Amino acid sequence: MAAAAAHVLVFPFPLQGHINCMLPFATALAGAGILVTFLHSDHNIRRLGHASAPPSPRLRFLSIPDGLPDNDPRSVGGLLELVKSLQVVASAAFRALLASLLSTTNPSRADHHDGADAADSDGGFPSVTCVVADGYLPWAIDVADELGVPVLAFRTSSACSILAFLSAPRLFELKELPFPAGGDLDEPVRGVPGMESFLRRRDLPSSFRRAGEHGVNPRLPVLVKDTFHSGKARALIFNTAASLERSALAHIAPHMRDVFAVGPLHAMFPAPAAVATSLWREDDRCVAWLDGQADKSVVYVSLGSLAVMSHEQFTEFLSGLVAAGHPFLWVLRPDMVGESRDGDATTPQDAIRAAAGDGKAHVVAWAPQRDVLRHRAVGCFLTHAGWNSTLEAVVEGVPMLCWPFFADQQINSRFVGAVWRNGLDMKDVCERGVVEKTVREAMESDEIRQSAEALAEQVKRDIADGGSSAMELKRLVSFIRELSS
Ligand code: UDX
Repeated sequence: MAAAAAHVLVFPFPLQGHINCMLPFATALAGAGILVTFLHSDHNIRRLGHASAPPSPRLRFLSIPDGLPDNDPRSVGGLLELVKSLQVVASAAFRALLASLLSTTNPSRADHHDGADAADSDGGFPSVTCVVADGYLPWAIDVADELGVPVLAFRTSSACSILAFLSAPRLFELKELPFPAGGDLDEPVRGVPGMESFLRRRDLPSSFRRAGEHGVNPRLPVLVKDTFHSGKARALIFNTAASLERSALAHIAPHMRDVFAVGPLHAMFPAPAAVATSLWREDDRCVAWLDGQADKSVVYVSLGSLAVMSHEQFTEFLSGLVAAGHPFLWVLRPDMVGESRDGDATTPQDAIRAAAGDGKAHVVAWAPQRDVLRHRAVGCFLTHAGWNSTLEAVVEGVPMLCWPFFADQQINSRFVGAVWRNGLDMKDVCERGVVEKTVREAMESDEIRQSAEALAEQVKRDIADGGSSAMELKRLVSFIRELSS
């Protein structure tokens, strides 16, 4: 019997960091001949202008409401609101949409002579045969399951962070959790397999830290439950490479029905040039500014799409960067720096100009980060160690200096500083002297640069033809085709 046309509905959590790896994933599937519907929130699709630009005959965009007003900043302070709103509004819309996408007919693949699946002559896509849902949307797994569609979970964060959540019950058993009140965050943590020799309390994802009446952050049990929930899906997909996280992947495998490590996807399948991926407007004048700088002379500073810093933290960073003496390019989103407590009305941009002097610093609201990281002038990356940013720096062999903000960033930065040794981890410290010293070290250490370059070579082997990620992706495409038949 001929196989049905495979049509995958890819549904990321509607935030920049999730879109940035799930869109290359969708591109990869479309490139392998599978039809893909990529599901945005209405808010994001408007910001990206995707509705008007179908990038390929096998990839299209649809959207559903996220339930928040358009002027909601959807930044870290409002993350819980977004999670709750999605659970109520988007889950109902997702159910209705999926039901409607299941009611279309599905032609057999034998009808298409090139072996690839294709839309109708009028551009209509056949019935959805498989859902790939962000693991951060556990209800989407249930909806797909209830409607009888095979579903896979996709995690946009590191495998090591997911293993930490899967290990949480064991950490409670061992009395590692909750952390003792006033306890030393530098104490080692037992119970996360494969990480006992280097993991300290402070390196666990931020929700493991003491909070609330009994010392357990109320978000932790929810995040642990959501992580285990991915075990209901037919498989769990990671945007990572085996050579980066082999041990974590092996320890996750027994908890899941199957595990695929298919990254770093941005380097394997960049979204088509015609498709906007940034929710903010990329200011590419910074690339022209970099063109005028010497090789490996610039510190690139970016704390991702969600982090917000206090005015005091901003001032410490600025003073440290200026004292380190290297030119720097700093991404400051409009909502990124809190107000000064002493009523100082100077904007962060003006403060940088005044402190650094002409030509020594360049500020943008949003940069074309991948172009920046591959620019010959960039010497190191002062980053929050979000997983996309980490992978982007790894692929380009750029030394990292990490100041993790929240979520998986705390454990990612430990891997940078203590496992891969392609950078330094400045976690929990924000003092100008430390910033100055660590910026100098990240810029000048031959050892760190060599590790960063070796790591880049290693990951490039993973993604090249025949490499582990490329092979895993082939296995995943066959798996999806099988589920779709
Ligand atoms: C957070 C988490 O830390 C991350 O691990 C999780 O998987 C998703 O949510 P975020 O703050 O968005 O992520 O950071 P990161 O994962 O690094 O993603 C930010 C993305 O925005 C990167 O792909 C980066 O290239 C891009 N970016 C950032 C730009 O394109 N321009 C900029 O100026 C800044």
